[in-house]
Amino acid sequence: MQSFTFVNPTKLIFGKGQLEQLSKEVKRYGNRVLLVYGGGSIKRNGIYDNVLNELEKINAHVVELSGVEPNPRLTTVQKGVNLCREENVDFVLAVGGGSVIDAAKAIVVGAKFDGDIWDVITRKARPTGALPLGTVLTLAATGSEMNANSVITNWDLNQKVGWASPYSFPKFSILDPAHTFSVPKDQTIYGIVDMMSHVLEAYFHHTTNTPLQDRICESILTTVMEVGPKLVEDLENYEYRETILYCGTMALNGITQMGARGDWGTHNLEHAVSAVYDIPHGGGLAIIFPHWIKYAMGENLDRHVQLATRVFGVDPNGKTDEEVALEGVQRLSDFWNSIGAPSRLADYDIDNSRIEEMAEIATVFGDYGNFKKLNKEATVKILTEAL
Ligand code: NZQ
Ligand code: ZN
Repeated sequence: MQSFTFVNPTKLIFGKGQLEQLSKEVKRYGNRVLLVYGGGSIKRNGIYDNVLNELEKINAHVVELSGVEPNPRLTTVQKGVNLCREENVDFVLAVGGGSVIDAAKAIVVGAKFDGDIWDVITRKARPTGALPLGTVLTLAATGSEMNANSVITNWDLNQKVGWASPYSFPKFSILDPAHTFSVPKDQTIYGIVDMMSHVLEAYFHHTTNTPLQDRICESILTTVMEVGPKLVEDLENYEYRETILYCGTMALNGITQMGARGDWGTHNLEHAVSAVYDIPHGGGLAIIFPHWIKYAMGENLDRHVQLATRVFGVDPNGKTDEEVALEGVQRLSDFWNSIGAPSRLADYDIDNSRIEEMAEIATVFGDYGNFKKLNKEATVKILTEAL
């Protein structure tokens, strides 16, 4: 294991009816609230009304920023930052999926930063503070509800950049599995792929002696693979929603990554694809991850074999390590295909015309990936395999 310090200050409030804790939690931080949400799902499923009822209990003055896009945009973040300043906002409440929460993280940090928030996102400047942020999560996928990460797209530059700061952790996040009942089948599938990908990113590392970390990762993966397919066939099943929601948070709240540094190259590569084609993050991951695993097979084959045997149930008898590892990747692809995830870039009408451009974007900060370093040529190769 590597030495590590672990901090996760987000208060997780999980379970049926837990929205009733919202007014009490918000009250700690003030009365002028910026409510951030997406394209209207929260109005259709009633969460919006219930949130406003809670905020009325404390006579909050509510300002709204609606229309946060999936793959949230810098322009929307800038609107939110301006609103915080103009309206003298005390507290920001994000109600939605990862996109809404990620935008809100950039808004709270931007509101306390004297300059352009894009400079913070691109690491040209250091953040100087943040307004307090709370979230009501409505989609199981990113883990954004209990981490400091945020991913923002700048369409003028075709860049989708992930960043994090100690200031961007939510103070609290409220997770009611029933809030995810209305997530459509496709987004439910993308969420399953995303949370599994977070665990896979963490799993591919070169650190030795990580038996507990490995088992934590493997148990999240096997749980998602056991429950995910049932959920996809029964979208309003409370217990399935509950399990998947919990898995999504555990997959990226830091618990899988103590003492070892995962790869994260596939995420960087998928963000480059989304920056050009604006496709759903989970859909892009389902296409790219199996190709990345095959590309990275030359590195630390033992880890590939461990994954294949322990998670995908590959029988190693009479097979070489490489055959076992390859069968594992095949089972991962088969699993994602079986629940309805895409498997080729062509599924999003992506051809080879902009592969070079995506590879440029993926390597804009240099070679990437901790388990397997990828340069521009490697990126082109993986994307070409994924066509
Ligand atoms: O915008 P609305 O109308 O709310 O609809 C959304 C959106 O269209 C809808 N939705 C959300 N909750 C719903 C619902 N529809 C019905 N019922 C509900 N309860 O789902 C659509 C997708 O929402 P979005 O927030 O974009 O999805 P997700 O949570 O998958 O977030 C994706 C974004 O997060 C980034 C991705 O790159 C992408 O930009 N990521 C953030 C991470 C993080 N902060 O840690 C890590 C991830 O790896 C990821 O990169
Ligand atoms: Zn992800």
